[in-house]
Amino acid sequence: MSSADKTILSVKNVKKHFPIKEGVFQKVVGQVHAVDGVNFDIKEGETVGLVGESGCGKTTIGRCVAGLEALTEGNIYFDLPSDKIALLEDSEKQDDKKVSAEQIEEIGNSYDIGKIEGDLFNHYRRNCQMVFQDSFASLSPRQLVSDIVSRPLRVHNVCPENEVIPRTINLLEQVGLGAQHLYRFPHQFSGGQRQRISIARALALDPKLIVLDEPTSALDVSVQAQILNLLHDLQKKRGLAYLFITHNLSVIRHMADKIVVMYLGKVVEAGNTEDIFANPQHPYTKALLAASPDLQSEVTSGMAALDGAIPDPARPPQGCSFRTRCPVAQPECGWEVDDVVRRLEHKDSIFNFLKEVDQSDAFNAKFTFETEAAANQLMAAMKSDDIPDAMKKMVSKLNCDAEHVTVSFKPAKTVPLIACGNGSSARCVLVNK
Ligand SMILES: Nc1ncnc2c1ncn2[C@@H]1O[C@H](COP(=O)(O)OP(=O)(O)O)[C@@H](O)[C@H]1O
Ligand SMILES: [Mg+2]
Repeated sequence: MSSADKTILSVKNVKKHFPIKEGVFQKVVGQVHAVDGVNFDIKEGETVGLVGESGCGKTTIGRCVAGLEALTEGNIYFDLPSDKIALLEDSEKQDDKKVSAEQIEEIGNSYDIGKIEGDLFNHYRRNCQMVFQDSFASLSPRQLVSDIVSRPLRVHNVCPENEVIPRTINLLEQVGLGAQHLYRFPHQFSGGQRQRISIARALALDPKLIVLDEPTSALDVSVQAQILNLLHDLQKKRGLAYLFITHNLSVIRHMADKIVVMYLGKVVEAGNTEDIFANPQHPYTKALLAASPDLQSEVTSGMAALDGAIPDPARPPQGCSFRTRCPVAQPECGWEVDDVVRRLEHKDSIFNFLKEVDQSDAFNAKFTFETEAAANQLMAAMKSDDIPDAMKKMVSKLNCDAEHVTVSFKPAKTVPLIACGNGSSARCVLVNK
């Protein structure tokens, strides 16, 4: 295997849920499913782009990869040798005759960033750095550039004290700054220059992987291009791998070898950049491309731009989570009681008279209204054009008894990521159909 093919990061079924707390006693009343079962790999020297609308979990993944968040579930392996990758794959296939639990545990203790300790953890800390969008918040305003950029060298004892400043100057030169900038404070620089300082600091320990979270989103377009070119050059010179997080598709197209598209904490499509831009498979990816004005002329996705609200990540839809906004949603995308409310909530004449909803699970509910008329209106609305045909097909029970309406849906299956002909994979029931 050539070194270019070496996987340096494996993200396996990663979940990160944040508790929602309420009241004086901070009782946990729910969980925000910020990241909900994400898988991807990054190879040495490669850029993986993570895209999706605000709130879909990009920053949370970046922070998990950089070791800044403890995972709720799943594993992140760093620098796993290929024979160990093969073992993990065998164990995923439940081929447990070949792989013992001790072997998996041993791999975890040596490579899982949530489990490694001591020197192993230090090795990972040096090799994985993060650059944030907001350089004002991430650079301490009271520290001089010399202190900011040299701090990692001192903390990790990389070189003798008399070499620290020459090395710091060298780092600044690599990002287009110089010795004349050593003894200034962050506020004395422009946004683009501050981002250069952040990059110099990230390079100090000669990492293999840098997580870049919207590194140019706060910058003017011309400055943005300079920083992207700098990142490109540094990658070529140093063989760096990037996890490049952005909501900007033209930036991702310029930077990424592979793309991972996220929606509501899940990967909905992943593949090579050219394949995804030339032939997007998931309706969400198509909609994102259609919504990106500077790409419209080149990409014909045949999909209107996105509208509608992103569902609450504390109550993510069952089945396909994009169906609530999807123009081509199918019966088997999974439909549930929340969809009734989502589709009809603008109907004041119904919901103003709603007394309570008794819901045993996502698929079964009994609505109780103050008046029979309101109940009858819900019955009528369920048969109207406000409810898409695909959803009507999944209603297994719809009854009205005076003020009560009972609605049941056939339970939804989780939609898996399906391999598409072109080497991408997409989480959509229409793939390959
Ligand atoms: N520390 C936190 N506590 C609670 N919820 C959080 C926290 N961090 C992020 N979230 C929630 O997780 C979801 C994903 O957030 P984030 O990863 O920042 O998305 P993105 O970077 O794609 O905009 C959002 O709904 C956000 O409100
Ligand atoms: Mg973010």
